[in-house]
Amino acid sequence: MIAPQRRLRSAILPVMGVVGAFIWSASQGTGQQEPTDARCKLAAAYSTIIMVPDGQELQVDDVSRTDLLSDVRACVESLLPPAALTTYRDTDAKLGGPPDTASQRQQRDLVRIEIAALVSPDVSIRQQRVVARRLAGGDEAATAAVRGQKADELLKVLGWAPPEVKGQKRDATQYVAACQSAGVAVPGPLATDKGWSQPKTLDHEVERYLILNAWSSVNVWTYRDQGGGYCVMLKREKAESTGLPPAIGTICVNANESHACFFDNVVPEGQSDRRLGFEEFQSTAFSSLIYPLDGGDDCSSCHVGSNPFLVDPKSDLGTTVRKMYSKIGTVTSFTFAGFDGVSGSWYNFDSIKEATPGTGCFECHTLPHVTKGHRFCPTIAWKAANTTMPPGHWQKKPTGRRPEFWPDSRGCFDSSMADLDSFFESMRQIRSLCDGTEIPACIIVDESRRQ
Ligand code: HEC
Ligand code: HEC
Repeated sequence: MIAPQRRLRSAILPVMGVVGAFIWSASQGTGQQEPTDARCKLAAAYSTIIMVPDGQELQVDDVSRTDLLSDVRACVESLLPPAALTTYRDTDAKLGGPPDTASQRQQRDLVRIEIAALVSPDVSIRQQRVVARRLAGGDEAATAAVRGQKADELLKVLGWAPPEVKGQKRDATQYVAACQSAGVAVPGPLATDKGWSQPKTLDHEVERYLILNAWSSVNVWTYRDQGGGYCVMLKREKAESTGLPPAIGTICVNANESHACFFDNVVPEGQSDRRLGFEEFQSTAFSSLIYPLDGGDDCSSCHVGSNPFLVDPKSDLGTTVRKMYSKIGTVTSFTFAGFDGVSGSWYNFDSIKEATPGTGCFECHTLPHVTKGHRFCPTIAWKAANTTMPPGHWQKKPTGRRPEFWPDSRGCFDSSMADLDSFFESMRQIRSLCDGTEIPACIIVDESRRQ
């Protein structure tokens, strides 16, 4: 699968009048500068829906679900390239099902999102489909919608297959074998493999994480194998009163950190799956977990770039992860191992540029050259630039402060960001990729001196 890489076009600036300051202060008072298309405000992670860019979990009810699905549908339409949009509209026009009640409208939007994902290989559209299916209650709901809207035949022409044709959900046996042949460490169960460290509690710092979700407790473990490959496992729990199982993610790499494999504490159960409680997970082999592409969580929505880990260097989680590193920082992009030619595999990007002194955000590290609408943008890049990056700039705890550190569509920043001006150009580059359109350098027209 190839995702199109958009290169920055050279800037053409509409200069009309006298060039003034580099900071646009007229936005003060109006506050918010949209970090992303307002219709693309959701991401899926840890079996939940997250509002981006804030990173808070969203509680969805029957009323809000209709509107949210309609937003996701509009988001997907905004991401479709023109040729695919034509096929999408043609197919949409042939949909027969009734769009009258709220639940029928939900079904209609779900089907449209499925169509969009069928007519375009764009990773951002696939990420929105993950969100839509989760909003609707799972893959089964998407299938029911296709049937409810009598769209089976129409979608089959585009390559759609209902889940029972695909068969049961797979376990990770093949995945683990492919990870191992790429040299990636695959540990034994937490309870029995002596290579695992003791857990380290991170409860004192959960509030500074990018993904908030009301964690009551977070723990981290590390693992190193004979060959120098290693893993980091993060367990995030909600309050016991919620009765919800923890989210336990594991990321493993090979010795030179060029390949990574991802595991979730979810096991396949027929057509469906089940998130394991901690007791059961501890004695479960990694090869019994769900095959990542069959799980509902797309780790590649966030974990992309040169480094499979997401790290705030000032946190204890960050310190723990960084103690394991050997070459991270010199590799330009890691590969999602274990998929070996499987279609629909997770996609990673090259870096925007090499880390270079004097280049703002790219001074210390590179960032992924993402395509338009990728979830990395609002969930990771925007959030980091407003809470953790550059290191040491922001207060320890996110304050919900406005305005944001993100250029507006004219490339200008709020004047309160003046002390970060050496990062402006790199932030414009980041937003240009995220929006799929060039964000110009900020040119202020001095109204008072205009003819
Ligand atoms: C919506 C974005 C997002 C998704 C999707 C996501 N993660 Fe993460 N993950 C993060 C962030 C951000 C951190 C760092 C802690 C924080 O700030 O919340 C993190 C941390 C981790 C860590 C600790 C090591 C590190 O990188 O800091 C592991 C392990 C992990 N994730 C595994 C997974 C797995 C496995 C999946 C898929 C099943 C996954 N994550 C999906 C955002 C995400
Ligand atoms: C003074 C050095 C420095 C500067 C400048 C800097 N960063 Fe970072 N940043 C770091 C370090 C160190 C990490 C941890 C990376 C790691 O462990 O590989 C990090 C991590 C990140 C991450 C987490 C993803 C990852 O690679 O683990 C993001 C996103 C990020 N930075 C964005 C930014 C943005 C946006 C800017 C500009 C506003 C910026 N950084 C400026 C040092 C810096």
